[in-house]
Amino acid sequence: MNLVIAAAIGLLLGSIPFGLILTRAAGLGDIRSIGSGNIGATNVLRTGNKKLAAATLALDFLKGAVAVWLAAALLGPEAVGIAAIAAVLGHCHPPWLAFRGGKGVATALGVFLALAWPVFLAAALTWLVMAKLVKISSASALTGMAVAAIAAFLWGGWALFWPVALIVAYVFLRHHANIARLIDGTEPRIGQGK
Ligand code: G3P
Repeated sequence: MNLVIAAAIGLLLGSIPFGLILTRAAGLGDIRSIGSGNIGATNVLRTGNKKLAAATLALDFLKGAVAVWLAAALLGPEAVGIAAIAAVLGHCHPPWLAFRGGKGVATALGVFLALAWPVFLAAALTWLVMAKLVKISSASALTGMAVAAIAAFLWGGWALFWPVALIVAYVFLRHHANIARLIDGTEPRIGQGK
C-alpha cells in the first residue's frame, strides 16, 4: 500500500505543468505551440522571458524534491525510489495534458537532491560546465544525467543506482529527437529557436 501511495504522491506532484501554467498566466499563449513544444524551462526561455524560464526550472525542480521528501517523511525510506520515478513520469506524462508533458531534466535534478545531494551536485555541476562549454541544453542535461547514474552507484551502491538509472534512462528516451538532432548537428543552442 505504501508504494501505491508513494507512486500517487510522485505522479500528482510531478504532473503539475508549471511551464504551461506560468506561460499562460503571463499571457504568452500555449508553450506547446512554441519552439520545441516542450513544457520545460529550455523551451520557456525561447519565449524570451528569462524570469519565467528560471521560475519554471525552479518549480519543476522543487516538485521533484518535494515528492521524494514527502514520501520519505510520510512513508519511510523504502518508498522514496518509487516516489522519485513517479515524479519524473508524472512530469513527462501529465494526465491533464493527454499524457504529453516534458522531458524530465529539472524534475530529475530535484529528485536527485532529495535522494542523495552528492548525486544532484555531480549532475548539476556537469550540466553547468557543459552548458558553458557547448551551450546546448539537451547535450548538457544528458551529460549531467549520465554522470548522475555513475555518482549514484559510487555514493549509494545498487540501492541508489536503480531508481537513478531508471530515471536517467527514461530522460534519455524522452530526448530521442534531441539526440537525433545532436548527431546531425542541428540541435539549437540555449535561447535559440528550434
Ligand atoms: O530538458 C529539455 C532540454 O534538454 C531540451 O529541451 O525544448 O530543446 O527540446 P528542448
